[in-house]
Amino acid sequence: MRDTSILGMPLTAPVVVGSGLLTDQERNIRRLLEKGAGAVVTKTIHPNPPQGLDERILRLPVGMLNSTTYSKRPVSHWLRALRSFAEDRLPVIASLHADSPDELAALARDVETTGCRALELGISCLNEEDGLEDDNPDRVYAYTSATRSRTGLPLSVKLAVGEGLQDRVRAAIAGGADAITLSDTIPGAAVSPETGDLELNGVYGYSGPGLKPLVLAATWQLRKRGVTLPIMGVGGVNSGRDVADYLSVGANVAQVYTALHTDMYDTLERILGETRELLGEPQGAPL
Ligand SMILES: Cc1cc2nc3c(=O)[nH]c(=O)nc-3n(C[C@H](O)[C@H](O)[C@H](O)COP(=O)(O)O)c2cc1C
Repeated sequence: MRDTSILGMPLTAPVVVGSGLLTDQERNIRRLLEKGAGAVVTKTIHPNPPQGLDERILRLPVGMLNSTTYSKRPVSHWLRALRSFAEDRLPVIASLHADSPDELAALARDVETTGCRALELGISCLNEEDGLEDDNPDRVYAYTSATRSRTGLPLSVKLAVGEGLQDRVRAAIAGGADAITLSDTIPGAAVSPETGDLELNGVYGYSGPGLKPLVLAATWQLRKRGVTLPIMGVGGVNSGRDVADYLSVGANVAQVYTALHTDMYDTLERILGETRELLGEPQGAPL
């Protein structure tokens, strides 16, 4: 039996559904929770999502490339949905981003008024038009500290594995993060055999099984270097074994996303069943 909680929420399972297209709909979020997800993270809510981009997903032999950015639903839609989740005491984590630290802080404040219980700052998406080639500690600190100054809600800062991760994690901690979500997608590309050009016309977010060893290594290294903040490990989870591996290297819970693009609810139920078999029921439930 293990005590599983994150961002102040006791969870019925150490398996959280990560942010993405599948969590852009209230109906999906409710159903994923009914199926037993410990919590669900919304698609990233943004006051001013880019318009007119060609946002697509491409399945690769191993993993997935996606050029999506943020939810196209207006903030007012999300505030209504988050209020209704809160009324039902559902463990939903609102993923948020904005064009500036001040704007993100204001959005977080608005979200807090809905009764939403926790935030994830989705500040590491690399699919915007000008890309996010060099995330850096100053940027992480600016977004985190501005948001922290405007809301008392528990918040996790989502980062991508890669260069300078230790410094970005320290910047998130200095800015007031309560947890780290690791990892967002990393830059990936595939070549079209027909044209020789890059699929999706560029470098976009890679996710799925290829990410898992990188995130396991990074999580293990963070723990080895003394980082004690809760970590949500995410990348390539598709079995209870994967969840257990994340917990073994020091993550507090695991998030699952890309695997759910195949038979979403059945896949989640399978992963939850395997996790229960390996780890037993967590304490702290029910909510
Ligand atoms: C189609 C797609 C859309 C995504 N959208 C978001 C998003 O809006 N916000 C976010 O923080 N992460 C987003 N992600 C990243 C996932 O939440 C997750 O961090 C990443 O895919 C690695 O986990 P996985 O290998 O289990 O998918 C998206 C991933 C995919 C594949």
